[in-house]
Amino acid sequence: MGKILDGKALAQKLNSELKSELNHLYCNSKIKPKLATIMVGEDPASQVYINIKGRVCAEIGIESISIKHPATIDKDELIASIRELNHDDSIHGILLQMPLPNHLKPHIPTFISQISPIKDVDGLHPNNKGKLFDYNEEYAPCTPKGIITLLEHYNINLKGKFTVIINRSNLVGKPLIFLFLKRNATVAVCHTSTIGLNNLTKLADILVVAVGKPHFISKDNIKEGVIIIDVGVSRVNGKLCGDVNFDDVFEKCGFITPNPGGIGPLTVSFLMRNTLIAYQNQIKADLTKE
Ligand SMILES: NC(=O)c1ccc[n+]([C@@H]2O[C@H](COP(=O)([O-])OP(=O)(O)OC[C@H]3O[C@@H](n4cnc5c(N)ncnc54)[C@H](OP(=O)(O)O)[C@@H]3O)[C@@H](O)[C@H]2O)c1
Repeated sequence: MGKILDGKALAQKLNSELKSELNHLYCNSKIKPKLATIMVGEDPASQVYINIKGRVCAEIGIESISIKHPATIDKDELIASIRELNHDDSIHGILLQMPLPNHLKPHIPTFISQISPIKDVDGLHPNNKGKLFDYNEEYAPCTPKGIITLLEHYNINLKGKFTVIINRSNLVGKPLIFLFLKRNATVAVCHTSTIGLNNLTKLADILVVAVGKPHFISKDNIKEGVIIIDVGVSRVNGKLCGDVNFDDVFEKCGFITPNPGGIGPLTVSFLMRNTLIAYQNQIKADLTKE
């Protein structure tokens, strides 16, 4: 299985390192890092993700709370809930779980900009997006951080590589552009209006697929030896799967992430890391005030 980029194993290693760091921190500080997730409505997939995040927090030693609002909550009430968490000194990280109900979707940029940038563990606040533009990746979103860390863990050098990302969302494709450029890759970003997608994917040295459509990529879409990062998540007959037809591409590709067991666990691990970063920045800010 020398071709597998084992995200799950790397996430376990990173989580145990985080746990040791936190144990050490608790010797010096009585305050524990605490992550707050806000969920609106009853989306079952969101509930599963929130449960996973809560479980990993508990395993590592990060406190967590999940704030649940009814799907009928209005814009101002949700903003008030975010502000309350901003002002609560015991909360270090705030995450607004997507998707939101339809009536709130047009206001997502407003909600995100209400989260205090220092507590923005998803890396979506305009200040944090701006820092990434200057290659400061301290608050970069968790999934792109996970992708880069996985590639670096396997000593895959990005310099000069032709990378193709099929996704242009704020959480995946856009931040990944900057992380790839910083490492001197050449980047093509594809989406639903891309013409000749197959011609581009066949040129890719590294192909990141985050579309959410099972079997979107097969061996006819890739070149020999390509490194494939399969981010998409779908459910087929109740089973989780990615965007790539794993069995079909396996012989032809150079490396590939399994899905599940690839980028998902790393995304959660980097949520923990971002919470620790947010906590340390708040402790520093408090010390400066004293
Ligand atoms: N494993 C993890 O930890 C993790 C983390 C984040 C996301 N995900 C998964 O990754 C997927 C994407 O997440 P997201 O939040 O970024 O979703 P999203 O905002 O819906 O993004 C999907 C992207 O795929 C593009 N796309 C869809 N169909 C396409 C097609 N036929 N040809 C070319 N491009 C196409 C879309 O293009 P347009 O922009 O033109 O619409 C969009 O840029 C989902 O399955 C999600 O569950 C997994």
